Amino acid sequence: MTERLGIIGGSGVYRIDDLEDAKWVAIDTPWGPSSDEILTGTLAGTPMAFLPRHGRGHVHSPTTVPYRANIDAMKRLGVTDIVSVSACGSFREHMAPGDFVIVDQFIDRTTLRDTSFFGTGCVAHVSLAHPVCDRLRGLARKAAEGLGVTLHDGGTYLAMEGPQFSSMAESRMFREVWGADVIGMTNMPEARLAREAEICYATVAMITDYDSWHPDHGSVDITEIIRVLGANADAAAGLVRSLAGAGAVPHAPCPHGCDRALDHAIMTLPER
Ligand code: ADE
Repeated sequence: MTERLGIIGGSGVYRIDDLEDAKWVAIDTPWGPSSDEILTGTLAGTPMAFLPRHGRGHVHSPTTVPYRANIDAMKRLGVTDIVSVSACGSFREHMAPGDFVIVDQFIDRTTLRDTSFFGTGCVAHVSLAHPVCDRLRGLARKAAEGLGVTLHDGGTYLAMEGPQFSSMAESRMFREVWGADVIGMTNMPEARLAREAEICYATVAMITDYDSWHPDHGSVDITEIIRVLGANADAAAGLVRSLAGAGAVPHAPCPHGCDRALDHAIMTLPER
């Protein structure tokens, strides 16, 4: 099967342009349908698969996104590498709205989602000590250079359940006590499931706001988030174009081992 670079677009990122042989395809999975059909095609010579996480028309909330179906559908299309391009709030003064953060860690505070492909019948425990693929992260960082946005190399992404934004007390705890740098509602369990599916995963966080901790900024405002995303639409499109040219696929064995995550992770004995 053709190996592909997958892009999962968050709020405000519902399509990618300039794909050759562009086709929206529906993929059946045992977990039900993915958030939307997946846009396949070729960009800068690279086979691509693009999925709008919330669906075109933004019909899935962060809680109802079918994360397992999404990752499974990407896997069935031959995707070996996924870059998530997601709007996030910032816990750091120097990570300002409009900036991009190349995330390297996650804290998962979600509570209402299916977080694994495994369970009764087959039990597996993959490592998540380093949930982001270092190789893919490096490619994402390179792709983001030269886009004209301020770039931050490294940052911890806190995934919250939502759909409400955080209280000021939560926001201050996440930043001061837990050491998170950015906050979003969707990249967990996506990163967990990508690892279980042996797909390399990385996140480019597009900062849209200062969440609720900042003394000089008011509450998070969705119209302001949409305004910042609109202003960054060209940079997001440029990021995807440069990523396509960055050589993520075809996929040599991952030096980080993402593509072999299950080799020593399955507990259940094969049927005799
Ligand atoms: N997405 C964009 N901004 C956010 C915030 N402040 N909290 C959670 N998700 C977000």
